[in-house]
This record gives sequence, C-alpha cells and structure tokens, in this order.
Amino acid sequence: MSDFAELHFEGEVYKLPVVEGTENEKALDISKMRGQSGLITIDPGYKNTGSTESAITFLDGEKGILRYRGYPIEQLAEKSSFLEVAYLIIYGELPNAEELKKWETEITYHTLIHEDFKVLLEGFPSNAHPMGVLSSCVTALTAFYPDSLDPVRSKDEVRISIVRLMAKLPTLASWAYKNEIGQPLLYPKNNMDYASNFLRMMFATPAEDFTPDPVVVSALSTLLILHADHEQNCSTSTVRIVGSSHASLYASVSAGINALWGPLHGGANQAVIEMLEAIKADGGDADKYLAKAKDKDDPFRLMGFGHRVYKNFDPRARIIKKAADDVLGKLGVNDPILEIAKKLEEAALVDPYFVERKLYPNVDFYSGIIYRALGIPTNMFTVMFALGRLPGWIGQWKEMRENNEPIGRPRQVYTGENERDYKDVGSR
Ligand code: ACO
Repeated sequence: MSDFAELHFEGEVYKLPVVEGTENEKALDISKMRGQSGLITIDPGYKNTGSTESAITFLDGEKGILRYRGYPIEQLAEKSSFLEVAYLIIYGELPNAEELKKWETEITYHTLIHEDFKVLLEGFPSNAHPMGVLSSCVTALTAFYPDSLDPVRSKDEVRISIVRLMAKLPTLASWAYKNEIGQPLLYPKNNMDYASNFLRMMFATPAEDFTPDPVVVSALSTLLILHADHEQNCSTSTVRIVGSSHASLYASVSAGINALWGPLHGGANQAVIEMLEAIKADGGDADKYLAKAKDKDDPFRLMGFGHRVYKNFDPRARIIKKAADDVLGKLGVNDPILEIAKKLEEAALVDPYFVERKLYPNVDFYSGIIYRALGIPTNMFTVMFALGRLPGWIGQWKEMRENNEPIGRPRQVYTGENERDYKDVGSR
C-alpha cells in the first residue's frame, strides 16, 4: 500500500500521509495540509472525518460488526456482566476473577450520594426531565469532589473519579426519577448487583420493598452492555472535545449526557415509543406513517430507523429484537405497540425509499419496548441509555487524556459579510 496520497492544487503537488488502523481502515492525515497548501477540509457533521485514533471500539457499518477491544458484541451480550464490560472498555482488557471482584467491590462501596444532593434535587420542579436533572447532578459532583477537577495528576485520582462516577450514576438516575414522581429517595443496598440495585432504587418505596425479577435483571444487563460504547458518536465526541480543554471527567460526562438527550441520538428511544403510541392512537395504520416518513414536505421521520454508520444492519438491533420477544414472552406482557413496531419494520424493509437509503432499525427501535416491559417510564429511557454508555464515555475520555490529545478546535469556511463600517444609532 502507498503510504501517502497526492493533492494537486494550483500547480503544486502535496503529499498527504496515509494512516492505517489495525482493521486496515485507511485515512488521510491532513493535519499539516493547511500549513503546506492553505487548504482546510470541510465536512459538516463530520460524516467522513476521523477525529482521533482509538483502540476501544471497532465497528464496520457495512458488515454490521461491533467489537469492544476486539471482543464481538454478540459474545459479550451473551456471556459477560455489565461491570466486566465496563472494566474492559475503560482499562483495555477483561478483568481476571480477582480484578473483577475488586472492581465490583469498589463500585458497590461508592454508591452513596452526599446528603446535600437532596437539597439540590428539591430545587428542581417535579416536571423536570430526568436527563436535565442527571446532567446537572453529574456536574454537581465536581463541587462535592473538588479533587476530581484535576484528576490526571495521579493514576489513583483518575481511578477514584471513575469508580465514583460508575457507582453513583445509578443512584443519581433513580433519585432523578423519585424526585419527579414525588416519592422519597431510596439509598443503595450494597449486597445487590449493579442492575438489581438500580431497579430496587427505582421501584421500591419505604412502605414496600421490591425484589427484581431475574428476567428483568438479565434483560437490563444486556441492554446496558449493548449501549456501553459506540466509538466517535455525537455524545462521545462531545465528551472527548470537552475533556480536550482539560475539563474534569464529571464536567465532560455531563456534557455527553446533554448531547445524548437529543431525539436524533439517545433521545430516539423515547421518541420511538411516543411515535408508536401516536400511530396506535391513530388506528395503527403503519403504511400511513411510512408514507409520511417518505414525504419530504412532512417533517416526520421514522424514529429508530437509520444510522450514520450502519448501512446494512445494526448488530445491536438484532440482539435487542430477540431480547424484546424473550422478555415480553417470559414476563407475559402483551404490548400492542410491539405489533405496530413489527409491522412498520416489515413494511420499511421492503420499501424502495428505505432500501435505497439503507435505512434499517437501529438500537433504539426495540430498546424502548423492552424498557416499557421492564416498567421503566418513557422519559427515563434516555437515562437508561446514559447508564449504559457511561463506560464508553469514561474510556474514551481516559484514552484522550492519556494520549495527550490537543484541544478540539475545528476550523470553518466563513460565508458572512465582508468588512463594513459601524453605523452609529446613538446607543451610547
Ligand atoms: N425516516 C425517514 N427518512 C430518513 C430517516 C428516517 N428515520 N433517516 C434518514 N432518512 C433519509 C433522509 O431524509 C435522507 O434522505 P435524502 O437522501 O432523500 O435527503 C437520507 O435518508 C439520509 O439521511 P441523513 O439524515 O442524511 O443521514 P444521517 O446519517 O445524517 O442521519 C440519523 C442519521 C440522524 C440517525 C437519521 O437516520 C435519523 O434521523 N434517524 C431517526 C432518529 C434516530 O433513530 N436516531 C437514533 C440513531 S442511533 C443512536 O444515536 C443511538
């Protein structure tokens, strides 16, 4: 393979180095191109721009491959635990039994939240969206752990910041929910596993305890694993770019939570259920809504369909579709919107509009249906995604800092007015 490409511009020839990844992906290194040729590149939405070299997640959108640190998502979803996958993503290797025990114990030990957080939560109106509450609470962690503001001074400080965040996010997420529904906040129980503990904090009350069904715990763990990382997506790029200014881990992850919130990204799981509910209320006519999605004069999009990188199938959606059938079957839930979802999928998969544009169900098309069956309220769906994505955000932030990456600062092509003189209207 040639290790450079040539750029011919205004009579000059510039050599641009070619970088190759371990899966033979090739990229042009244009970092010195402006200095040599005066040219920058333009790529709105970074559709064809690599922002970094990363050793965490490999995905091939054409072949529908997703691997964390080399391990196929199918194997991890079937065999591993969420905390094991989190360790893998953050530290690069699967933990041995002793390392896993230590990691689980550390995380369990740090699940409590400072009591002053209750004052913060009381300040939110009860109709506050839990994603806004969650990101505010994660930013607030910087106030309670000021040592986290400069965590790269020592490996121990990085580790404790990571452990605290992994441990406290489920507690904060459940508190955001309890605050919304006006129930007393519940404390974590350290004899429970990560998923069970979270479910208990969501659904128990001081009046009545709650023992999660193993089917529910297992389904939740699978969903968390499937969401754990997805290389340089919108929220992860946000975390890296915020962290590149040397903002703390908590500040960077809080920004990632906000980026995830939008309906074109993690907010799609909530939007899918709202869409399916609307279709059901309108008589359940899937074809009518397919036609709306295809109509360029109609802003309606088929939520949960399409993906920036998966142009064949989303391997996570395959696993989730099967999990949705299993969970609903085992729990005996008969959800009419699952039928509407299946009708929509079947119709879209043979419709030329969707086929030509390579639009397939993504991870969010079926995840909302499972969350519903697990009893998770709709506006908590994106919070569930955030719980799952946390190891990815942490691992990517850590990699970016350890590689000492420069501050993220894209350029632009200016299209505004040329210089003109100020018109004085006597404002001072
Ligand atoms: N419904 C109808 N048409 C669609 C859809 C959809 N869901 N998605 C894409 N298209 C069409 C576009 O209108 C466009 O058509 P055109 O070529 O005639 O103009 C074409 O397909 C390409 O779409 P883009 O928006 O250019 O693709 P992009 O890669 O920028 O967007 C995205 C990807 C944001 C995921 C988009 O497919 C979408 O909005 N999907 C619905 C929201 C969603 O499910 N988001 C979750 C993504 S997964 C995740 O973040 C976890």
